[in-house]
Amino acid sequence: MKDRSSHDTSSDKSREKEASALSAVTLIADGMIVGIGTGSTAAYAIAELGRLVAGGLDILCVPTSYQSEMLAAQQKIPITTLSEHPKLDIVLDGADQIDRNLVAIKGGGAAHTREKVIAHAASKVVLMVDHEKVVPGLDHEVPIEVLPYARTLVERGVRALGGIPELRMAARKDGPVVTDNGNFVIDADFGTIDDPARLSDELSALVGAIEHGIFLNVDEVHIGTSDGVKVLKRQGLRK
Ligand code: 5RP
Repeated sequence: MKDRSSHDTSSDKSREKEASALSAVTLIADGMIVGIGTGSTAAYAIAELGRLVAGGLDILCVPTSYQSEMLAAQQKIPITTLSEHPKLDIVLDGADQIDRNLVAIKGGGAAHTREKVIAHAASKVVLMVDHEKVVPGLDHEVPIEVLPYARTLVERGVRALGGIPELRMAARKDGPVVTDNGNFVIDADFGTIDDPARLSDELSALVGAIEHGIFLNVDEVHIGTSDGVKVLKRQGLRK
């Protein structure tokens, strides 16, 4: 079972994740309100932010999950809330897959609803990935957080859109994954996604679906490779 609570263990991939995180953290400056994402790559960024805060960096962070909140607390990073700071300067987060147009699929850790909220509250959305996650065409399953009451309705809607829905089951709990918001997650397989923006709109229109993992508003991605970190930036306006 993949341990999502801390650092990834497969060495090359974890080195690339850490390098991408260290690169993204260089964007953080005194006075910023920083969204902190969820997952093993975000954990590297939080560890580095902790080191910088201990050395005097003056920031406030808004976590996207219990995981990132706990890691930030361990690192003694000052935490705030979206209610207190509805506008963030930047968010640093991981992703499960991303294409060259900077459209990402997130939600491997079932945190994509809060991650998307924070991504929309932030002036700049920065993702950090290892190079294997960058693909020419998105084909990762799309996580959809659903109201448990509406699960079968949403599954029917996913099938009508040509997808194959699968309820995500918990690894060390009997039954389904329950998100930080108390909901279920359906992973929907659409094969290669030709038009992610259209699928995003279609999934957003499913009643009972709270949020899906297609992210269209990424500004910058830091990619860890065996040859250093490569940075891709959005050309033009963000969606
Ligand atoms: C959590 C996410 C994560 O950012 C995504 O799953 C990547 O995780 P990792 O950095 O562990 O590979 O979207 O919901």
